[in-house]
Amino acid sequence: MTLTDTPAPPPAKATAGSGAVDSKVRRLSAASAKRIIEPDVDVPGHVGDGQLLPDELLSVAGLDLDLTPEQRRVLSREEVGSITNSGIAFEAVLEAGFALEIAHRSDMTDPRVTFLLHELGEETRHQRLFIRMLEDIRPTAVHPLDKPLFRFFERRGINQIINRPAMLYTLVLGGEEIPDLFQKRASEHPDTDPFVKAVNRYHRQEEARHLSFARAVLPEVWEKARPVDRFLVRRLVPRIIQGMFDLLVHPGVYEVIGLPGWDTWKQVKASPTRVATRHEATRPVLEALIDAGAVRRGRVPAPWRELCGVDAHAQPC
Ligand SMILES: [Fe+2]
Ligand SMILES: [Fe+2]
Repeated sequence: MTLTDTPAPPPAKATAGSGAVDSKVRRLSAASAKRIIEPDVDVPGHVGDGQLLPDELLSVAGLDLDLTPEQRRVLSREEVGSITNSGIAFEAVLEAGFALEIAHRSDMTDPRVTFLLHELGEETRHQRLFIRMLEDIRPTAVHPLDKPLFRFFERRGINQIINRPAMLYTLVLGGEEIPDLFQKRASEHPDTDPFVKAVNRYHRQEEARHLSFARAVLPEVWEKARPVDRFLVRRLVPRIIQGMFDLLVHPGVYEVIGLPGWDTWKQVKASPTRVATRHEATRPVLEALIDAGAVRRGRVPAPWRELCGVDAHAQPC
């Protein structure tokens, strides 16, 4: 870590955007500059050979399945593998969107550009650590949607998302809040694998800054959003977040331990434990949209109500 990364004091001439947001973003950059973690040096170690997550943190918790200890061990490893895989891919989409945003900026001295570069650095560093975890775990589950037709639509969808900042930032909030809750639970549980715990703790520290940044800039992103983007955020994005949540552990994971893939996945998706987790993980995203003026209390769109388990006033129901 060097002090040369510390951002310069605010220039006399204000850059674009609100002063309060500028100051907040500069503080986040300063925090990132002070806390540079190189995972290959600072997070040594490997994933253990046992069950990585305790029973109550497995996706099948509450389903009353009669699984042997070996099935639970393998399931926990495949679940962590599936979540880690999705995380690396999601972060790559975020990086593409942020890189594009920088490319389109006319003022590179805007403090948002500096923070985005810190965020890109943090994401790529912890992505390398996630890959190290995958090399240890060696998951074998085959994603049933890894087919040319799905990939075609996925590519088109990603191109849309990275070119629509309001959608991108809302999905960034979704993609960061959801793992944050899973990682909080895993890192606080005494029976989680020690290395998985350490990785989760490290990731959550960096993601806390990313969440603060996304929340801070969402109001100005929303203000600039075109009507079609506003419509997509209110109606389509909650469906995409639901899909992201449900596919964190994909059906192929259950097939590895001899369970029917899609049937088990559907049971997990509908289980009260899983639904409660989804509500808890996604409500902060809705709150951020309300704070940003994107959604009004009393008029919460139906897809957001369904995703978060709330009424039109954003109250749990
Ligand atoms: Fe991340
Ligand atoms: Fe992040």
